[in-house]
Amino acid sequence: MRFSSSLAVAALATLASARMTPRASRNDGANARSAHPDHENDKPFILQTRVKEGDYPGHNGLYVYAYHTGAGLNDAMLDPQESVGNNGTAFTSDISDRFFVVLYDLAGSPYELEPATGTTPYPDLLPVRINVDGAPPSSSNAFYFAYNTLRWTNNINTMSGFGGWLACKSEHGSLENLSVPGVQLFYRSTPGPTPEDCSDVDLVPIY
Ligand SMILES: *[C@@H]1O[C@H](CO)[C@@H](O)[C@H](O)[C@H]1NC(C)=O
Ligand SMILES: *[C@@H]1O[C@H](CO)[C@@H](O)[C@H](O)[C@H]1NC(C)=O
Repeated sequence: MRFSSSLAVAALATLASARMTPRASRNDGANARSAHPDHENDKPFILQTRVKEGDYPGHNGLYVYAYHTGAGLNDAMLDPQESVGNNGTAFTSDISDRFFVVLYDLAGSPYELEPATGTTPYPDLLPVRINVDGAPPSSSNAFYFAYNTLRWTNNINTMSGFGGWLACKSEHGSLENLSVPGVQLFYRSTPGPTPEDCSDVDLVPIY
């Protein structure tokens, strides 16, 4: 049961709708939706990995959690303990009910799951952050579910910019033992080879 987190969701919705007021005020319908997010927002979920290829047992069934790297900044990491999985909500906007951002309530502030740009230890892979933000989805930043797995795109017209999630050996230590490498979530922008120490994974929501 994740019942008590509905309070946090309501707080998140309020914060996020405050930020998008100029946009939502275009019409009452959009405003109503942002103030009273649709059903997906009522169901917090944690994200869990399913290894697609490579069959790396240590990368299956891991939960996404925020690894603090600086003020308002986190890397998306993966751990086998369900209790550390951060509760996300799917936050939609007026672009389409289909698209959303994944918001986490960390210490009372909205943080957003962000397929980002920047360097990683893996040349073809890009970082996934959980940074302070509460912006609604846009046509260039939108998540959606396909076959109950989480996908992302940087262009909702061409549905491009995403070539899959990967679980890889991290430069950060694991929660269980800081001197042992943890597992980190990355993505690639187009399909490509799977680096050593990585597995191709799906992310499924667990409600
Ligand atoms: C997620 O929500 C559940 C139920 O409210 C709570 O027990 C758990 O501590 C939360 N997890 C995190 C990492 O905040
Ligand atoms: C953590 O890992 C290191 C390196 O493998 C090991 O020497 C140490 O005993 C481990 N600590 C615990 C508490 O398991």
